[in-house]
Amino acid sequence: MAAQQQDNEYVLRRDYAASARLNLQHYQMKETIGYLLHPDIRVSEGMRIADIACGTGMWLLDLSSEVPESVTLEGFDISDDQFPHMSYLPKNIKLKTLDATGPVPEELVGRYDVVHVALLTLVVKDGEPGVWIRNLMSMLEQGGYLQWQEGNMPAHIARQTASPSSPTDFPHMHAFEQYHLNTLSMQPPGINDWITELGERFEKHGLKDVKQLTYEVPRKYWRAWTETLLLIVEEFADRLDNAGLREVVKRAGAELKKGAVRPNLMPIIVIGRKGV
Ligand SMILES: C[S@@+](CC[C@H](N)C(=O)[O-])C[C@H]1O[C@@H](n2cnc3c(N)ncnc32)[C@H](O)[C@@H]1O
Repeated sequence: MAAQQQDNEYVLRRDYAASARLNLQHYQMKETIGYLLHPDIRVSEGMRIADIACGTGMWLLDLSSEVPESVTLEGFDISDDQFPHMSYLPKNIKLKTLDATGPVPEELVGRYDVVHVALLTLVVKDGEPGVWIRNLMSMLEQGGYLQWQEGNMPAHIARQTASPSSPTDFPHMHAFEQYHLNTLSMQPPGINDWITELGERFEKHGLKDVKQLTYEVPRKYWRAWTETLLLIVEEFADRLDNAGLREVVKRAGAELKKGAVRPNLMPIIVIGRKGV
């Protein structure tokens, strides 16, 4: 099955620790960004909202507390391993499996007022999010909004020289940074440039009223964000069965207490509207 083949390519884990890490990331992003839906996106009775590649479904679960019960909330992911059991879901939330890079099922075409997607840096292939943008747009009805939330890795790299973790004071955090920059998600160079260019990509695909906003993680949360990043790379090391990388992560973690940080991600939100 095509969906299963793609699924095997996922570079992170899907066990309870990975789910807890994703849920934590959701709340860390929300704390920094300050909202779930960009304020331009108005919620009204009976709306349909989708979260594609929804992971644990936490964005929808959280959103369900903010919107009227008449709003339909539908989540899709290539794997259902991290979904809460359906018996725990509010009545207006449904979660299903879908390969979002394959043909869009007919019943989903033009179905949604809002389509949201988040944290696909390690999922988008060859630095090209086009298939995602096209498919997500086709799920929108006219006037509907696409909202994409990501970690702005290229913007973060651009300021690496200002990293507070100097090689002399924090050699292991520095080694971790180097590994992360040079091998994990940065190869080949520029592979993640699509993130900073997402607004332009939206426009190229015909979305209107495009807005792109990058947020700073407050200094007081730098350690907390660094810990989350260490967890991500630890998962990556497990998937690769790379004991050396696991050791790099562990040693970098031991330097946190002395002040080593790598305030990763810099959340970015891009929104655009279909055919207005
Ligand atoms: C890093 S997680 C982000 C999950 C969620 N969006 C969040 O912000 O917590 C990436 C998700 O993309 C899903 N995924 C990967 N390839 C996919 C595909 N082709 N179609 C749908 N989901 C996919 C993975 O299963 C995983 O749940």
